[in-house]
Amino acid sequence: MKYRKLGSNGPEVSAIGLGCMGMSIAYGVPDEEESQRTLDQALETGVTLLDTADAYGQGSNEELVGRWLHRHAQERDRMVVATKFGLRHDATTGRVGDVDTSAEYVPLACRASLRRLGVEHIDLYYAHRRNPATPIEETVGAMARLVEAGLVRHIGLSEVSPATLRKAHAVHPVSAVQVEYSLFTRNVVEGELLATCRELGIAVVAYSPLGRGMLTGSLSSRSELAADDNRRRWPRFADENIQRNLALVQAVRDVAERIGCSPAQAALAWLLAQGEDIVPIPGTKRRRYLQENVAAVTVPLSDADRDLLRRTVPEEAVAGERYPEAALERLGH
Ligand SMILES: NC(=O)c1ccc[n+]([C@@H]2O[C@H](COP(=O)([O-])OP(=O)(O)OC[C@H]3O[C@@H](n4cnc5c(N)ncnc54)[C@H](OP(=O)(O)O)[C@@H]3O)[C@@H](O)[C@H]2O)c1
Repeated sequence: MKYRKLGSNGPEVSAIGLGCMGMSIAYGVPDEEESQRTLDQALETGVTLLDTADAYGQGSNEELVGRWLHRHAQERDRMVVATKFGLRHDATTGRVGDVDTSAEYVPLACRASLRRLGVEHIDLYYAHRRNPATPIEETVGAMARLVEAGLVRHIGLSEVSPATLRKAHAVHPVSAVQVEYSLFTRNVVEGELLATCRELGIAVVAYSPLGRGMLTGSLSSRSELAADDNRRRWPRFADENIQRNLALVQAVRDVAERIGCSPAQAALAWLLAQGEDIVPIPGTKRRRYLQENVAAVTVPLSDADRDLLRRTVPEEAVAGERYPEAALERLGH
């Protein structure tokens, strides 16, 4: 494993983290036993950054990570446990509803996450989304009080605008911005957001770095997705878009074969090559995928390969928005 620093004030973490969301929700049938073994393997291979959120399965994903942390209490200090608050569940539908980033809510959410994770502190605490009606200074002020109280070590924001990031960082140093970043989704990060992060010394934690599995080449049609798989509602997996996107993945596979790696590894190596300040967190609940993904740190990607991968997936050729409409409205505030 290789290690990177999360921003000028943040912790050192493995260059590839582990996204835990899919262990509880979103991508097919959960498998607790295999998920726990995947976490064991993460520890063995030197992965130190674990990513979860209170919104994943209404706290059940934090509980799953908490069960693992309980079994590995003596390794707690080696791990950087990252979680998020702000996406509240609608009590009637059980789905993610309002964004709450108010000063009253932040400590309540934090204490609930600490309880579910069974830890004394959260290493990296993100605002998952921003409610534009709440000044970011109010939210970050409340997060800073958690740092002062020793409940949180470092703070982060997810899917915010460069202007919000600047205001937030003026209140308390932000270590990381978590945002979707992959060969399929580049324009959100590249440009003003990345420039602002670099100016302020903030790392980019790249989520959905495998395009929610699409970039791995393991999917060949929409019908392979389970009936309750979230991707059935995702535009890039819709009937009218998926074949165009899979054609791009085939082109990535051709480049990967020439490099001597898998498409997933090419996608992750490409992200790692964008800068020492980029940390992808591919999600998986399976040991074999974790092993493959972690090996991306050793893929020798030349500058020419990097440029070729970029040209192979022209962003305008990717069919469909990255989120369904209601979720898109919560981004970039
Ligand atoms: N801040 C935010 O708003 C936000 C949003 C989304 C996600 N996240 C975080 O980012 C993490 C990663 O994103 P993500 O899970 O959405 O997407 P992702 O990492 O792009 O893709 C995950 C999907 O790819 C599959 N996969 C992983 N490695 C594979 C491999 N080597 N070969 C074949 N398939 C492979 C997984 O399968 P299995 O599930 O079968 O293992 C899963 O279906 C999440 O776990 C979560 O912690 C944050």
